[in-house]
Amino acid sequence: MPGDGIGPEVMAVALDVMYAMAKLHAIDCDVIEADLGGIAIERFGTPLPDTTLESARAADAVLVGAVGGPKWDGLPFHENPGGGGLLRLRHELDLYANLRPVRTVGHSGQHIDLLIVREATGGLYFGRRGSTGTGEQRSAFDTMAYSAPQIRRVLERACGFASERGGRITSVDKANVLASSRLWRDVAEEVFELHLDLDSDHLHVDNCAAQLVIAPEQFDVIVTENLFGDILSDQAAALEGSLGFAASANLGEGSAALYEPVHGSAPDIAGQGIANPSAAIRSVALMFRYSLGRPDLASQLDSALETVLASGAVTADVAGRSGASFTTGAFGALVLEELHSSARGEKA
Ligand code: IPM
Ligand code: MG
Repeated sequence: MPGDGIGPEVMAVALDVMYAMAKLHAIDCDVIEADLGGIAIERFGTPLPDTTLESARAADAVLVGAVGGPKWDGLPFHENPGGGGLLRLRHELDLYANLRPVRTVGHSGQHIDLLIVREATGGLYFGRRGSTGTGEQRSAFDTMAYSAPQIRRVLERACGFASERGGRITSVDKANVLASSRLWRDVAEEVFELHLDLDSDHLHVDNCAAQLVIAPEQFDVIVTENLFGDILSDQAAALEGSLGFAASANLGEGSAALYEPVHGSAPDIAGQGIANPSAAIRSVALMFRYSLGRPDLASQLDSALETVLASGAVTADVAGRSGASFTTGAFGALVLEELHSSARGEKA
């Protein structure tokens, strides 16, 4: 689902890379293209057509480019590309664990390797909302609601990832103020009791935001509710120097899942061929890891990307106005070249 804005541009590179991996490793892949977001509104009058939802349900994995754009910004939440398209798709597939890894790569001096596990089916995004009145009488509300099972399943999942990684987990809430956060902390404590092998703690979200700036290397797994995770994951991704690097996996109970860059459709640079395809490439790697049962290929792809970045090749988001940079396609070609030359190296 390439979607809108720079979505189709980064998707083209992601698919090239995926096909190259498939060819190198003799994997059959059957790709169906479907419309999601603004493009679906234009073609079908809805951001998530039934045919798109059906093909997502039938697939082993869904790869999304990006959705949204100024043309559809004025639409009500349930009809716009984000709310009615992407969020509804995550919700329909019950993809409750949104994994957002952040790892500093070649061009950065820091050593950050953390994983944000964002709850993605509850909280303010899906609670009761409404607005009434006109003029200064206007008022509006959203509800942050969570049930214990909803919190427990994402905490359990996050603990699983923590034990596969560095063994540390931080649950982030606002338990000093919010009732839903007090429940979150209660349930998190119950889950942590069952995982005494892990080094676990709790942080308030405001403190977590500060710690991410001051000392991001202290974190391994961060698990938090939907909106906190939305904000903290952009913040954490920015530590990599550009939002153009952050990929995400949206997991549910089975192995079928949805993969997407964290960045949006960036209408300001769409059509110029300068978007950073790294997040889309890393999304393909996550897909190999979590849906296709090939963590080995995920690592190969990640390291090919890292080799290219370590060589100093960058796209415009990293180079800035004056620096030399590669176009989306030229950067993708470097990654393809690296994949092929490391495959030749293995055979030799
Ligand atoms: C994200 C995005 C979405 C979200 C938007 C597009 C609805 O910001 O994936 O983080 O808030 O979940
Ligand atoms: Mg976001």
